[in-house]
Amino acid sequence: MITNKLGKFIAIEIKDLDVREVISKETINKISDILTEYSVVVIRNQNITNDEHIKFSENFGNLELTKVGTDGSGSKLIILRNFDESGNILLPTDRQRLNNLANQEWHSDSSFKQIPSKLSILSAKIIPSNGGNTEFLSMRASYNALPQDLKIKIDDKVCWHDYSHGRSKIDPNLVTPEEKQALPPVKQKLVLCENKHGKSLYLGAHCRNVDGMSENDSNALLAEINSYIDTEKFSYSHVWEPFDLIMWDNRAVLHRATPIKGKIEKRLMVRTTVAGQTPTINEN
Ligand SMILES: [Fe+2]
Repeated sequence: MITNKLGKFIAIEIKDLDVREVISKETINKISDILTEYSVVVIRNQNITNDEHIKFSENFGNLELTKVGTDGSGSKLIILRNFDESGNILLPTDRQRLNNLANQEWHSDSSFKQIPSKLSILSAKIIPSNGGNTEFLSMRASYNALPQDLKIKIDDKVCWHDYSHGRSKIDPNLVTPEEKQALPPVKQKLVLCENKHGKSLYLGAHCRNVDGMSENDSNALLAEINSYIDTEKFSYSHVWEPFDLIMWDNRAVLHRATPIKGKIEKRLMVRTTVAGQTPTINEN
């Protein structure tokens, strides 16, 4: 497999892969290994249909069904766009635009689910000419940057992740009562130890507070952890080309979209989300 490293800590491009072809089990295992090591895998020039996207994704596990209140709800696809059926750019106050704004916060997809996702696979369809990048932040490098005493202090900590938490900061009415009911807060380990490449922090916009601590102490601890995370140094920013396909490990990186610069142009991305197999803790 021909690869090219993209970032200092994370991200690698696989150059000789066409995801529409029949892919052997051996190749799938190889891609999984590369993803586990580099956390973000970029495959360019993949002009795929939604069915091909789903078929390729299912090589890596069962796919999550898109939750209520999201474009694509009930299907295996999440449609991320900033325009309506007629192609008109949505108003800044439209729910979809506000949700896009929420996606500009560092987050891990589905960390608000009892069994959070393993990986996401995003296909670029329409790309604005300026901005609208996706940035990925290594949570392994972030963990490694913590001083030893802080690592020990947080090793067995558990956090509450709540879908409403980050969204409410953007607009208190963005999360509907239906979504709130479908997505109650869940507990997740703060430090994950998923594989041989080391431990990683599990944080992001859905992380509300540390379990068993007062609000002040919890905020102080999360702020202390964040003070060691160098979001420039530990990250990789992807400038999209149409038909780029990116896979990322939701348990090893956070990600965010950057704003579209200048006049708002259309952006259309389609995502599948491979479900995790185990919760991060056993007591939800
Ligand atoms: Fe996301």
